[in-house]
Amino acid sequence: MPDNEGFNGTWHTAAKLGDVSEGEPHGVEIAGHAVALYRVGGEFYATGNICSHAEALLSDGLLDGCEIECPLHMGRFDIRSGEALTSPVEIDIPTYPVRVAGDSLEVCLPD
Ligand code: FES
Repeated sequence: MPDNEGFNGTWHTAAKLGDVSEGEPHGVEIAGHAVALYRVGGEFYATGNICSHAEALLSDGLLDGCEIECPLHMGRFDIRSGEALTSPVEIDIPTYPVRVAGDSLEVCLPD
């Protein structure tokens, strides 16, 4: 699980662990950031929730392993790195460190 080493930001409670189901993207709004949360193979990940192509919500898309497919034009991103993988997306999306705190998931967002 990624931590916040080398990342300047503030930890925020993002969701209850039970709200983030295996293989189901979960969109949240935290401190003005649109964030998508994911659980894959028991690990948690967080990315920006806005597609870099035309601003669709990635949490409405299809999660296939560690790839999120945008619901609008089917571009794909790697949720671990934010890398834009398939046309028409060309610009990476942000990723954020996550950690489990009790029964909650926390995300570190830039200040
Ligand atoms: S809006 Fe996401 S691929 Fe076009």
